[in-house]
This record gives sequence, structure tokens and C-alpha cells, in this order.
Amino acid sequence: MEFERAEQLLTEIKEAKPQNTEELEAFRIKYLGSKNIIKPLFSLMGKIDPQLRKDYGLMLNKVKTTAEEKYRQLKIELADEQQTESRKGIDLTAPPPPSHKGSRHPVDIVMNRVIRIFSKIGFALAEDREIEDDWHNFTAMNTPEDHPARDMQDTYYLRDFKNLLLRTHTSSVQARVMTSQKPPIRIIAPGRVYRNETISARSHCQFHQVEGLYIDKNVSFADLKQTLLYYAREMYGPDAKIRLRPSYFPFTEPSAEVDVYWGLESETDHRITKGTGWLEIMGCGMVDPQVLTNCGIDPEVYSGFAFGMGIERQALLTYRIEDIRWLFENDIRFLRQFHSAI
Ligand code: PHE
Repeated sequence: MEFERAEQLLTEIKEAKPQNTEELEAFRIKYLGSKNIIKPLFSLMGKIDPQLRKDYGLMLNKVKTTAEEKYRQLKIELADEQQTESRKGIDLTAPPPPSHKGSRHPVDIVMNRVIRIFSKIGFALAEDREIEDDWHNFTAMNTPEDHPARDMQDTYYLRDFKNLLLRTHTSSVQARVMTSQKPPIRIIAPGRVYRNETISARSHCQFHQVEGLYIDKNVSFADLKQTLLYYAREMYGPDAKIRLRPSYFPFTEPSAEVDVYWGLESETDHRITKGTGWLEIMGCGMVDPQVLTNCGIDPEVYSGFAFGMGIERQALLTYRIEDIRWLFENDIRFLRQFHSAI
């Protein structure tokens, strides 16, 4: 009698097919809950023939573990089913959400802005080699043999080619353009340059410059100044102010260094501008007649101006980056923060 009841329960459990979570819960309560229907069968143990008690016990345990196993199994199956069910609501033809496509490097963003600003006033793009010869980098640019810029300390020479070096400035492109084009010349030359400098928060052994060169009849210093003012206003806003300080470069005469007014409000402003509020962003000047002669252009007919600006410096300023080394480490946690359409 008791055996039959147990047998019956076992079949019932095996055949049960709960269709949803409610039915599964009913199953659990019925066979595994605190008042489950297997329990009473255990209390009938005393009525069983002592010789059969062991078998009866084993039987009841089987009923119990079958119920437990079945419940576990059904729970997994139902969860799976529910997931497939909810997937049915997904429109597989819908376009995927936008994925992260990477971002532009801050140096690239600033350099592209500079290029656009000058291309609007007719400056064409001129790009040239980073491995340059001594003549284009120094000699043509009126840099005498004993000039400190030529020193092994500053310049990376190619070990087996004493005449070749990594260009120390984009001014080498001036020589390339002047020896291959006839005036009028109006170009900008962006690119990477190299100097053997100790790497620190403010300087690196590689950086980027944008060179500008304008050669025509009657080009004056006033043209240079106006062009630079235009640049500063485009780059730093209509209220941007610049100042020119007399300086020296072998390839320009007169020469100047250009500062933009950065402001002196915050502590960072003080630190970045060394307490002056002004920040140097480039060197410039009227192309030295000797440079024109070196490159085959008649200084009696033509004159011109040139400038060379540092890009990293301006990127640090624009994005308030405190250490130039960040620009070369390619840490994507840093790079991800920059976005630009250009
Ligand atoms: N070549 C100079 C430098 O690297 C910058 C410069 C370019 C100055 C053109 C004057 C004219 O510092």
C-alpha cells in the first residue's frame, strides 16, 4: 500500500510538465515545500514490515531526490525558454547602436585646425621627408657650420650617413619648396621634427611643427604680422591678442618670436605662462636674402616671410594637458578623451 503510493508519486513527479514559473512554483510547493506530500509517507515508516523498511526508506529518498532534480532541471529549461521568448521581440533588421571607432590624436586635431586656417587664405600644403640632408636642414637655411644647432647634442645624425639627419625643424621644407617651385610661393608644411633633448614634462625629443612660407614681390613685415593676427583670432577666438618679440634665427632677418595672450586668472595660467600671461607659440621673420639666394630666388625681385610654430605646446594649451609625454605614450585612457570631426 505505502509502496504503491510512493511508486505513484514517483511517476507523477517524472511526468509533471509545469509550463511556466507559476506552475513550477506549484510543483515546488507540492513536492519540496515545507508541507510537501512526500513527508507524510516518511511518517508511515512504523507501519512497514521491518524487513522492508530499508527498501521503503530508499524508495522515499528516491522520490525526494527525483523531485529535487526535476525541479532544478525545469528551472533551467524555463529560464532558457524565457530568454528565447524575449529575443523574439528584437528587431534583427534594426541598425546596430554606434560602436566606439577610436578618436583623433590631440596633436592631429590641432595640426588639422592650423592647416585649415591657413588653407582658407590660400596656403597650399607641402609635406616632405623627415630624414633630411644637412644642406636642406642647415646650409640652405643659412646656418653656419659652427652654429650650435648643428651640434651632435641637438641633432640626430644617421650613424652610417654623416650627411643625413632627422630634420630638426620643418624649415627644411622651405628649402625643398624654394628649390623646386617658382614664386609666388605660399605653403604650409606640417610634420614631425626631432631634437636630442632630455625628455621632460615640457620637452620631448620628437614633436610637431607647422612651417609657413610666403614669397612674392613686395611681401612686407606688415603682411607677416597681419597673417599671424588672423591665425591667432581663428585659433583662439576674435579677442585673441599677439605680441612679437625681437629674436634671432639664421634664416630670417628681422626675426621675432610670437606670443599669444593666454590670461592670468587661474593658478594654471600663472604656471603655464611663467607669470606673464603670454605664451610663446612660434618663431617667424622675413626670409633672409641669403636664403633666397641659396635656393635660387633673386632677392632683388622677391621677398617673403616665414614662420614655424610648435604644435604640442598649442595642444597642451587647448586641452589643458599638463605633461607633453602624454602625447607620445598612446595610453588609450588618455586618447579616448579626444573627439573631433576633422
Ligand atoms: N625653425 C624655427 C624653429 O624650429 C622656427 C622658425 C621658422 C623661425 C621660420 C623663423 C622662421 O624654431
